[in-house]
Amino acid sequence: MNPAAVTDADWYRQAVVYQIYPRSFADANGDGLGDLAGITSRVDHLVRLGIDAVWLSPFYPSALADGGYDVDDYRNVDPRLGTLDDFDTLVDTLHTNGIRIIVDIVPNHSGSGHAWFQAALAAGPGSPERDRYIFRDSPDDEPPTPWGASFGGPAWTQVPDGQWYLHLFDPAQPDWNWDNPEVIADFEQTLRFWSDRGVDGFRIDVANLLKKDLSEPLPRGRDEDGLSWATHPRLSDLPSVHEIYRGWRKVFDEYSPPRVAVAEAWVPAASRVAYASPSELGQAFNFDLLKAPFEAGAWRRIITDNLELAARSGSSSTWVLSNHDMVRHVTRFGLPDSDLEGTRHKLSGGDDPVVDLPRGLRRARAATAALLALPGAAYLYQGEELGLPEVVGIPDDQRQDPTFFRSPGVDVGRDGCRVPLPWTVDGTSFGFGTNGSHLPQPPSWGDFSVEAETADPDSVLNFYVEAVSLRHELQTSEELVFKDSAPGVLHFARPGGWECLANFSEASIDLPDSQVVLASGELDGDQLPAETTVWLRVPTTKG
Ligand code: NOJ
Repeated sequence: MNPAAVTDADWYRQAVVYQIYPRSFADANGDGLGDLAGITSRVDHLVRLGIDAVWLSPFYPSALADGGYDVDDYRNVDPRLGTLDDFDTLVDTLHTNGIRIIVDIVPNHSGSGHAWFQAALAAGPGSPERDRYIFRDSPDDEPPTPWGASFGGPAWTQVPDGQWYLHLFDPAQPDWNWDNPEVIADFEQTLRFWSDRGVDGFRIDVANLLKKDLSEPLPRGRDEDGLSWATHPRLSDLPSVHEIYRGWRKVFDEYSPPRVAVAEAWVPAASRVAYASPSELGQAFNFDLLKAPFEAGAWRRIITDNLELAARSGSSSTWVLSNHDMVRHVTRFGLPDSDLEGTRHKLSGGDDPVVDLPRGLRRARAATAALLALPGAAYLYQGEELGLPEVVGIPDDQRQDPTFFRSPGVDVGRDGCRVPLPWTVDGTSFGFGTNGSHLPQPPSWGDFSVEAETADPDSVLNFYVEAVSLRHELQTSEELVFKDSAPGVLHFARPGGWECLANFSEASIDLPDSQVVLASGELDGDQLPAETTVWLRVPTTKG
């Protein structure tokens, strides 16, 4: 990394960040699970993509009850994924190639194999060890509150001595007690541990949930219907959660340049502002496009609102179309419009609902071109640069997601977006590794491989490479101005004579008389076809 870049404290504001789900990226040691050495061996792909940073999902020791989001040791590497030396090599290789790295911090809960949770179980009620987690008595043999866990079932599990512990996710993910000073100090040590090893920043898992209000009287009785953590007054977004992040900011600022962070906070849009402020985490995910219909008006509203919210927080906005928790957007955009929201559970395979993949891909390319033209940080998820669809119909006995087991079987869960990447057209696990893959890859995977797409000038991969590179060239500032446009069309200008024209409608429109520098699909003479986006270079008037 060149010295000027190293000292640039604002690098994250307009970055293109690529999320790696390590167990599914590349497997160097042939055990069917992706690993750190596998990532290092594929850095050339990241360089070619032109991304600014990698976000690494958890790679820590874990029982994998929730794909690594059940962390048993926050300051180590899962031996199946490598060693701390492998981590250092990865960081060095990325940095040498001008790519930064942010790692996932999972502070709401640990894994049940964490030494402190095991100590809490052994020490018994009333002990300091139990106070690091959230243990409660309950008068009748019912859980202390009627809350449900995110993956299904109650949010409390009883231990043999009769007490219950809280877990907002799987029982193997006990929630930390963030009122305990030891917990606060331990996480600050973790942030320093990785910062000292050279990581540039952190992605904070469910940042809104850390503080809970468990004051009496607690609600009792049956499951609370429609419990939504985004707005639950006892579980989400308590004012005191922000004290934690103000403390973390002091840790980030011990480093030069300061370490950065991005909050995963599923809270109403206006509440994101605090998490994203420079005195806290500095940036927050905006998931609005993940839930949006493919519709120009909805995109315009979302862009307007989020640029305004980001400005209010003193941050830049973030944009996301896919991640490891959501149905891949090629498939999402191929669903009937009426099914576009909350579709995860509907994709169990078969023909219901029917997915129009060619249309999904056309829309996905158009949406990506629009997203990459926006000011703010673009977060890409591994495999979207290949146009991978969601894998539907994974056999039940090969599923891994706790959502599937605890719903039970009703919500198929997130495995379909976590299937290992195809690198080669043929071969064992399409070049992912030498010995199979931990989730089954469909036979069509070779067609989506990096090898196949590199050779095809019209591939999704070559489109991403071109778009990211042009974005770096064209983006000079964070401003955006909407232009008047017909219904179904989104048109905005960026400083320096750069415009984005996205046709969300089902009919062609006239192309203006400007130079097209990027097109998400084939153009038709002077027409911009349906569901296609272009970037235009327009002459700047000298004034
Ligand atoms: C959000 C993560 O993105 C998801 O994968 C995980 O299951 C939950 N948080 C719990 O850690």
